[in-house]
Amino acid sequence: METARSERLVVAGVTLSIAPLEHGDVATVRAVFDQLGELSRTRRYLSPVPRLTTAAATALADADGFRHHAVVVREGPGRPVALGRLVRTEARRAEPALEVVDDWQGRGLGRLLLRRLLADARELGIASLEGTASADNRPVLRLIRHELCPSEMTYDDGVVSFTAWVPSRAHHTPCGERHIA
Ligand SMILES: CC(C)(COP(=O)(O)OP(=O)(O)OC[C@H]1O[C@@H](n2cnc3c(N)ncnc32)[C@H](O)[C@@H]1OP(=O)(O)O)[C@@H](O)C(=O)NCCC(=O)NCCS
Repeated sequence: METARSERLVVAGVTLSIAPLEHGDVATVRAVFDQLGELSRTRRYLSPVPRLTTAAATALADADGFRHHAVVVREGPGRPVALGRLVRTEARRAEPALEVVDDWQGRGLGRLLLRRLLADARELGIASLEGTASADNRPVLRLIRHELCPSEMTYDDGVVSFTAWVPSRAHHTPCGERHIA
């Protein structure tokens, strides 16, 4: 399946690799978490999370590629610098989540990761994405607006909820513009 593919990403002149997270790879989940500062952790989990419990790390690594699909971006052969995931909430609907380690943020990696997740969502038969983000999380709100073109976006008590359609054709964003995958 296409979602199992490994590919190269060039971000800010650096070549990175992106591939599915191996099922049960708790070490990678922890390595990415350890490279997130306090603000990033709070934004990722919508509440302060000083440490990952064993149960949480195990659940985050429990990626079977269908119910829970996760991809990891690595710099060089080993260092993981980002994780992206799609967790099904219904048969054809999933919640996306992104985490880019602090020293890689703001260089365009989050956008490429989200594009890969969109392509994978289509391959997995996911028709729409839904999720929430903190209203002060400008980077992810920009990504949601510019890459997902949500059909619905609501604000309640500091949290933005969104729903977006997954494009049915390869290399198209939900905004209808063609992009290079
Ligand atoms: C949210 C996150 C995944 C975005 O990834 P990134 O690699 O930093 O983002 P990019 O460099 O691709 O930039 C995405 C957009 O945010 C903007 N942006 C990036 N850093 C920003 C900053 N510090 N302040 C404001 N805007 C910023 C970019 O200009 C771009 O906007 P554009 O669409 O108008 O060009 C990353 O910042 C992150 O992991 N944050 C912590 C965890 C989190 O918040 N996860 C999301 C909830 S699941």
